[in-house]
Amino acid sequence: MAVLNINGLKHVVDAPADTRLLWVVREHLRLTGTKFGCGMGLCGACTVHLDGEAVRSCQVELGDAEGSRITTIEGLDPKGQHPVQQAWLELQVPQCGYCQSGQMMNAAAFLDSNPSPTDGEILEAMQGNLCRCITYVRIKQGVRRASEIMGA
Ligand code: FES
Ligand code: FES
Repeated sequence: MAVLNINGLKHVVDAPADTRLLWVVREHLRLTGTKFGCGMGLCGACTVHLDGEAVRSCQVELGDAEGSRITTIEGLDPKGQHPVQQAWLELQVPQCGYCQSGQMMNAAAFLDSNPSPTDGEILEAMQGNLCRCITYVRIKQGVRRASEIMGA
């Protein structure tokens, strides 16, 4: 048994300690906004926050996540109105949408640490999150717009 703090709620999870956090979140807790892409730490589709840091949940073991504050896309903002979510909606960033919760979680953690980034810093921060629909231009615009909303 493991006790996890996810989106401000405690969850008791009955799974082996080496179960990847991605599967705990999706299969045990049914928080399916976090996506499975590669399962190898290469695409970023499974990005969640651990104590405010963006991590790839397919690479985090359940036992290592205990004691941390875990946030998934469902808990990023109580009303779904985090500046990143506002910007993504305003600019209609997604195409198929599959990669986008990971994109938004990575962007939100990045903007927390760097609220007024340069274009180069945005590209560098987001380059590890892959998008098969090639929405990279809108993703960059979305991060820029979210930064503006945060500063307003
Ligand atoms: S599914 Fe985790 S990085 Fe691709
Ligand atoms: S919007 Fe389709 S994979 Fe990114």
